[in-house]
Amino acid sequence: MSIKLRVAAVFTAALAVAFAIGAWLFLSQLRAQLLRTTDATLTATLAGAGQYLASASGTRQGGTAFNPGSGETLVQVIDPSGVVRYAGQEAGRVPLVTPGQLAAARSGPVAVTRTLDEEPVRIVAAPLKARPGWVAVAGVSLESVNETVRAETTALVAGGAAFVLLAGAGAYWLAAAALSPVERMRREVAALSERDAAEGVRVPRTRDELAALAGTMNSLLASLHDALARQRGFTADASHELRTPLAVLGAELELASRPGRTREQLARAVASAEAEVARLTRITNDLLLLARTDEGRLPVRRGPADIADLLAASARAAAGRARAAGVECRVDAPAALVALVDADKIRQAVDNLVDNALRAAPPGSTVRLSARARGGDLTIEVADSGPGFPQEFLPHAFERFRRPDSGRGRAEGGAGLGLAIVQAIAVAHGGTASARNLPGGGAAVRIDLPAAARPPAATI
Ligand SMILES: Nc1ncnc2c1ncn2[C@@H]1O[C@H](COP(=O)(O)OP(=O)(O)OP(=O)(O)O)[C@@H](O)[C@H]1O
Ligand SMILES: [Mg+2]
Repeated sequence: MSIKLRVAAVFTAALAVAFAIGAWLFLSQLRAQLLRTTDATLTATLAGAGQYLASASGTRQGGTAFNPGSGETLVQVIDPSGVVRYAGQEAGRVPLVTPGQLAAARSGPVAVTRTLDEEPVRIVAAPLKARPGWVAVAGVSLESVNETVRAETTALVAGGAAFVLLAGAGAYWLAAAALSPVERMRREVAALSERDAAEGVRVPRTRDELAALAGTMNSLLASLHDALARQRGFTADASHELRTPLAVLGAELELASRPGRTREQLARAVASAEAEVARLTRITNDLLLLARTDEGRLPVRRGPADIADLLAASARAAAGRARAAGVECRVDAPAALVALVDADKIRQAVDNLVDNALRAAPPGSTVRLSARARGGDLTIEVADSGPGFPQEFLPHAFERFRRPDSGRGRAEGGAGLGLAIVQAIAVAHGGTASARNLPGGGAAVRIDLPAAARPPAATI
């Protein structure tokens, strides 16, 4: 059942119940009021009952002088022994009230409703003035009262039904009007393809819940669209990066397979193929790590790690390349600095930074690997005195596959994933990575890890 139908049905049912209760209250009030009026008329009739008794001079016959209520009002006068001493036309000899009611009526007025000849009759009995122990009784048919109540009931039922149905239709129309933006949005969303998802749906100008829903839906659609675009870009970039080493590898193998290759030429081809395979492996590992990061599944196995040792190991591993570039790697970290980090991952991040720094550092310069703790926070920084980052590139330095245009040449061989991985590792540790250019020239990239460093007393 649609929402608008449900709303209309519930509203109509509630309205019908409310109307029925109102009508019932009205009808019972009306009936009570009509009875009160009837009782007042009967009481007024009783006031004059004594004189009719006098005019009938005590006979038991209905007096011709007495014709109360133009034949519609029944009147009896009953003596203390319970004998009807006067009965108006059609009133009969049998007392209109029961002995109990008669006894009660001797001390005060009594009003009852009973059925006489299958007709409801209202009867009022009261002590007869000036004759103690005597009771005057007056009755009148309630047919006209019932008729009035019946007519009112019919009118209320007919009018009420029409009103409730009309109101139900109005509720349906209102609900349909209120929900029409929902149906419109549904159609718009259904018509959206993944390519134009960024356009979103039209936001109603009502500033209500539906407008808020449309706004939320649009931001969700926009972020999904962005994520999709990023994913596409990532896939395209990754394929592009993998294609180059694969092409080089293919060419090397093709060259090697040509007849008449010398041993040296073959050895060179194998060495080159090896280098390309190493590069392919590194890129695929990097891509895997970033994919895990995207899924929030980059595992961080924290354990106490001596940061000075970690930096020294990284410098040692790069020593060969540093020597070749004529660069010195210097470690500057307090000896007892122990931090709760995933040592392998931090080492990978530092290696990436050292790799970048060695590529940028001019011969004869120094690459500084430093670490310090402030409070419980740990900061690791790798600085060089090369040309630094191009200023316009700095804000994008940590984006995947991002390299400055000048760095596009494959000669230096970077895929543009190193800094993205540094950042992913920092973030997985709850920290941040940032890059800056040093005032005196050169670049510095630092990793800030909050609450990672242990106080010296807690060293292992
Ligand atoms: N210390 C630095 N000095 C100057 N430029 C740098 C420095 N470190 C990085 N860059 C620039 O930032 C770019 C991105 O670095 P990143 O480490 O992300 O990628 P890459 O080194 O090119 O490739 P990869 O690390 O995947 O092998 C580099 O290509 C380089 O142009
Ligand atoms: Mg790099």
